[in-house]
Amino acid sequence: MELGELIRELKGIVGEDWVVTGREAVLRYMYDETAPYVRPQAAEDIVVVKPSSSIEVAEVLKVANKYRVPVYPRGGGTGLVGGAVPTKPGIVLSLERMDALTIDVENMVAEAEAGVTLGKLIEEAEKHGLSFPPHPGDEGATVGGLIACNAGGARAVRTGVMRNYVLGLEVVLPQGDILLLGAKTLKNNMGFNLAHLFIGSEGTLGVITRAYLRLYPRWEATATLIVPFENRARAFSAAKRILFSGVIPLAMEYFDRRAIEEAAKHLGAPWPVAAGEAYLMIMLAECSEDIVFVELDMISKIIEGEGGLEPLIAQRSDEQSRLLKIRSSIYPALKGETFDILDTTVPIGRISKFLDEIEELERRYGIWLPAYGHIGDGNIHVHVLKYPGFSRSQLEEIRDRIYDAAVALGGVITGEHGIGAIRRAHAGELLGPTWAKVMSDLKRALDPNNILNPDKVLP
Ligand code: LAC
Ligand code: ZN
Repeated sequence: MELGELIRELKGIVGEDWVVTGREAVLRYMYDETAPYVRPQAAEDIVVVKPSSSIEVAEVLKVANKYRVPVYPRGGGTGLVGGAVPTKPGIVLSLERMDALTIDVENMVAEAEAGVTLGKLIEEAEKHGLSFPPHPGDEGATVGGLIACNAGGARAVRTGVMRNYVLGLEVVLPQGDILLLGAKTLKNNMGFNLAHLFIGSEGTLGVITRAYLRLYPRWEATATLIVPFENRARAFSAAKRILFSGVIPLAMEYFDRRAIEEAAKHLGAPWPVAAGEAYLMIMLAECSEDIVFVELDMISKIIEGEGGLEPLIAQRSDEQSRLLKIRSSIYPALKGETFDILDTTVPIGRISKFLDEIEELERRYGIWLPAYGHIGDGNIHVHVLKYPGFSRSQLEEIRDRIYDAAVALGGVITGEHGIGAIRRAHAGELLGPTWAKVMSDLKRALDPNNILNPDKVLP
């Protein structure tokens, strides 16, 4: 490749200042939040390009095709499966400058460019009396990445994952054509739903540059409950009864004392609940305080019946944010000692059995397997840690046993983090050759030169 020539052309498209090649400056574009042990190695020869419009994105892709150089689209870099890591010499296409956001109040839609952060989207929606419910954890994630990875998070129980919020998309196809999909309507039956092909494609089929996102009314009343239990069985039994009661919480999370105390310590704050070994964190959000009180009452009765201990009920928004922040910090707290954080997801009726199997593995190997997560939707994160004296292949064996357990229970190995670079082999094995063929046929049809995020997702 004639690198000098390529860089000249890129500068011609986005301007001198927005093509970054210095080793130091490029460093923060090489990795995402994937645990260092399992993340792929980034290539050395990387040029970071920061376009300001979808037209510039299209031009960059055309040049990349001309020189046959891989392009790695990048949002907030908060992914956990190495999806944004440039594994071959090429271009990191950072959408950070494309961060325009308009709240269309009347239609309850956000018009967001790819680089808008989740934090900004939530804040702006609220300023306009609306809300954007999904919360995948890290508010530095950006709209493009959230959509490309079909992010999930704690608040999927009631209103779903990113896919359920996307009404329209602007996508730049791998060869530089711009495709507009959808409209600001809740219903749309205009042909194949192509938008859903790009949602969750993890940067392999197109670059998402803009989206219409569905907003919800802002909740007038919210509450976050931390309910302690003496053990996991009781917590799970209560969770099941709550889910069957008709109260649909905004979020229902599970964690144990050891994991949440690590998270609190990481933030330098004590975990505010003295009692219990296993916890449910339940978030309620409604249009009036009365409804929240009725729900609190129903939940309290269920908890009492299931042997729950005295709950902590937070109603002030700063208190609630603090609790969510502690919950969201379990991964950052454990990251340093994590070999791999798993994203196993099982049908909700099997969560308890799945956790039994995790406990069985803990006994068999004499290790701690922190397991926590989105109990309301069956998405349980299990950490395989770097246990002293365990070889890499032993850690992989433990991970594979956890995968096997999830799959045997009718589950999947990723519910929200995606396949990225590090789950390709397993996904290929589990989903089989017909899946792999359809995936690669689609990839080839859209990206014949294999320019966009090669070496990801597809087996
Ligand atoms: C969480 C991230 C790791 O649920 O998905 O904390
Ligand atoms: Zn999660």
